[in-house]
Amino acid sequence: MLAAAQAGDAVQRAAQTLQRGALLGLPTETVYGLAADADQPEAVARIFEAKGRPKDHPLIVHVAGATPAQWQAGVAHYAREVPDFAQRLMAAFWPGPLTVILPRRPDVGAAAAGGQDSIGLRCPSHPVAQAVLQAAQALGVYGVAAPSANRFGRVSPTTAAHVQDEFATLLADDALLILDGGPCPVGIESTIVDCSRGRPVLLRPGMVEPAALEQACGEPVAQRDAAAPKASGTLESHYAPTARVRLMPHGEMQAALDMLGADARHIALYVRQPVSSASRHLQLRYMPLHADACAQELFAVLRELDQPDTKLIWVETPPDAPAWDGVRDRLRRAAA
Ligand code: TXA
Ligand code: MG
Repeated sequence: MLAAAQAGDAVQRAAQTLQRGALLGLPTETVYGLAADADQPEAVARIFEAKGRPKDHPLIVHVAGATPAQWQAGVAHYAREVPDFAQRLMAAFWPGPLTVILPRRPDVGAAAAGGQDSIGLRCPSHPVAQAVLQAAQALGVYGVAAPSANRFGRVSPTTAAHVQDEFATLLADDALLILDGGPCPVGIESTIVDCSRGRPVLLRPGMVEPAALEQACGEPVAQRDAAAPKASGTLESHYAPTARVRLMPHGEMQAALDMLGADARHIALYVRQPVSSASRHLQLRYMPLHADACAQELFAVLRELDQPDTKLIWVETPPDAPAWDGVRDRLRRAAA
């Protein structure tokens, strides 16, 4: 593992890793990505294989740039066209935790796109991700395919140590370089808006709220429907720890604890309000009151509560407000 990811040396090694078609654990502001050059089909195949992810599930391609003029090179390389409303979304939220799905140039990125005729593009704001993407671009890498760096269906990684835990064998075989950029500040995956079908459709909620999307693009953003393409982040069961996750309101959790009394064991709680229990065997974590803070710690907390002797993780249902859409979505899938 390479620490001090912003050191020029580490960034250069990371860029060369991408250029030669190998895998890179890449810190971004959302979650760590398992990255490879999006234009090398064998490199992209290594991502699918390492994750155990079905080959028809499209990956997000990350492009370099701090300004529209800079990310234009990457966007133009992959996208056949960029509708005006998509331009406005990119101008408003890039670099940052937003992915736009655009019509794909038929001759590029087919493997990364999982065979779709569209491509998901994101320009991340994390300084380490930007430094690596820019250094890689200078070596001829236009875009970097990177799904979350976890095995298929598992909890996404928000620290370098999480990535190490997921892919210990790859590391041992020298088949993966992990860049340590510290804990991810956003903590859940990017908001995804499909811009390939004439009007904006929200495919995956994240920390960019629907109202902010609509304001930026100047039109209503529809919710995803059955016609939306297959997407592992949108599968019912995803982000799942080994212990069973259950979401419930505070009153229901308190009633269940009362019923179990001193016998409550092997249960971890992630709650917004205090609960009482006669058991001394409960693990308890308080959920931050703000959605941003909760998102930032969410996946790390799920991993931490998921101890070998924990059978159940009971989570108090977060507020029903748009700011919590991303967190509620991930918890609902963890519980499915
Ligand atoms: O925050 C993020 O987006 C993170 C970091 C690493 O950037 N990446 C990430 O990638 O979450 P992944 O592979 O776990 O999620 C990719 C999702 C797919 O499951 C799908 O929902 C959507 O992006 N996607 C990508 N390309 C698409 C396409 N052409 N059409 C429809 N959906 C697409
Ligand atoms: Mg994922």
